[in-house]
Amino acid sequence: MKIKTAEFVVSNTDYKLCPKETLPEYAFIGRSNVGKSSLINALVNQKNLAKTSGKPGKTQLINHFKINNNWFLVDLPGYGYAAISKTKREEFKSMIHKYLINRKNLMCLFILLDIRHKAQTIDLEFMQKMGKEGIPFVMVFTKADKLSQTQIGKNLKNYKIEMLKNWESIPEIFITSSEKKRGIEDILNFIKIHNKSFDPTFCQ
Ligand code: GTP
Ligand code: MG
Repeated sequence: MKIKTAEFVVSNTDYKLCPKETLPEYAFIGRSNVGKSSLINALVNQKNLAKTSGKPGKTQLINHFKINNNWFLVDLPGYGYAAISKTKREEFKSMIHKYLINRKNLMCLFILLDIRHKAQTIDLEFMQKMGKEGIPFVMVFTKADKLSQTQIGKNLKNYKIEMLKNWESIPEIFITSSEKKRGIEDILNFIKIHNKSFDPTFCQ
């Protein structure tokens, strides 16, 4: 899929104020600093559409971007960010959870995982929760440029072993690098296919 236009629409703390559910939507989530905003920028081929930072905790709102006037990308705050108060963290958690369970046009959630790290409890628990809620998701491994292909293979194999302790089958997996633009076409193709099955009447 070619990206012709990508524009920022709105930022919210409340899912009820998000844009009307008339277009298919794809949201990005994962631990703080995993590379959500960077991946969004790589997908739309812009440097600063979504705000990125070397410091975790940059994205703090539900950010909607409209792509090709035809679908939404959503940049979400990261979870597991330690350097904020417990109250604030609970607020983020509740904001994200409400958005995820209520947004009828959410076609798929992209759960980002740093390819360098072994499976973390916080991510495994988050995926369990999404499974229980019936929210469709895929696994997106990030920062692949930081490891050799052999190491990527090893880490992926270990991750799958970990997943199979709780899952009968493993969700679709993407290996990406925003830095090297790896996996971008695959994700855009995935979105293109899912856009076709969007039924706006379901969202009314
Ligand atoms: P929060 O909004 O804080 O939750 O973080 P985020 O998940 O949106 O991460 P962000 O995109 O801001 O990136 C965090 C850091 O990782 C930045 O310093 C990025 O440059 C770096 N980064 C992101 N993606 C990649 C990648 O594919 N390769 C490399 N080498 N660095 C990356
Ligand atoms: Mg971000």
